[in-house]
Amino acid sequence: MFTLDKVVPWGRSFEEYTAMFLLAEAEMAGRILGCGDGPAGFNAEATRRGARVVSCDPLYAFSNADIEARITATYEQVIDQTRQNQKEFVWEAITSVDELGKVRMAAMNAFLADYPAGLMEGRYVNAALPSLPFPTGDFDLALCSHLLFLYSQQLDEEFHHASLLELCRVAKEVRVFPLLALGGARSPYLEGSVEMLRTAGHNVSIQRVNYEFQRGACEMLRIQRADG
Ligand SMILES: C[S@@+](CC[C@H](N)C(=O)[O-])C[C@H]1O[C@@H](n2cnc3c(N)ncnc32)[C@H](O)[C@@H]1O
Repeated sequence: MFTLDKVVPWGRSFEEYTAMFLLAEAEMAGRILGCGDGPAGFNAEATRRGARVVSCDPLYAFSNADIEARITATYEQVIDQTRQNQKEFVWEAITSVDELGKVRMAAMNAFLADYPAGLMEGRYVNAALPSLPFPTGDFDLALCSHLLFLYSQQLDEEFHHASLLELCRVAKEVRVFPLLALGGARSPYLEGSVEMLRTAGHNVSIQRVNYEFQRGACEMLRIQRADG
């Protein structure tokens, strides 16, 4: 069962999403799903700019106050862990652990400020892979940041395959970042997933992007649906 005490809420910014997923201005005009967006600032800022974004995550079963309390309770722990493992990250766009803390908190505060309105408008949906409550072809683009492949030790190959096919069902195009598991090696499920998606008839490519924070994580998986 998904419980809040197991979650370490940690959300990236709109700018990080555009870099991770090579999002072009024209692509922002489509209907976008952010799957596993958690407390990221992407939906809030994209909506402010006039984009149509829906985020889904089991985290959205919880109230604003509960999520905020969990962010406060885990923030120092995440920052301390990052400080201890600084060599695993590239300190260029974000130059220090202190700056990282500020960037992440700004993104999560943007989420928290937007969450009540977004819930009412149906922009934050309590839902979890591998089964999503959206009609087939509902979105032009689905983005999945720091969930699939990253958690290869927690989520097995069957989950990865079912989730990728589900994202392809609801969106014409799917982008997943990063392709590395925690620890920094390529996910053991990447190759098999690419093969499975190609066998299902989809166009699959691995593209280099303009973002690298976890050292070596600079590629995204891009899947264009066969009938997209
Ligand atoms: C590391 S966070 C990434 C948050 C955000 N995408 C970002 O990059 O800043 C992973 C997120 O995946 C969500 N998650 C966990 N299991 C999920 C599932 N089965 N389906 C969708 N989201 C899930 C968690 O609640 C969490 O918010």
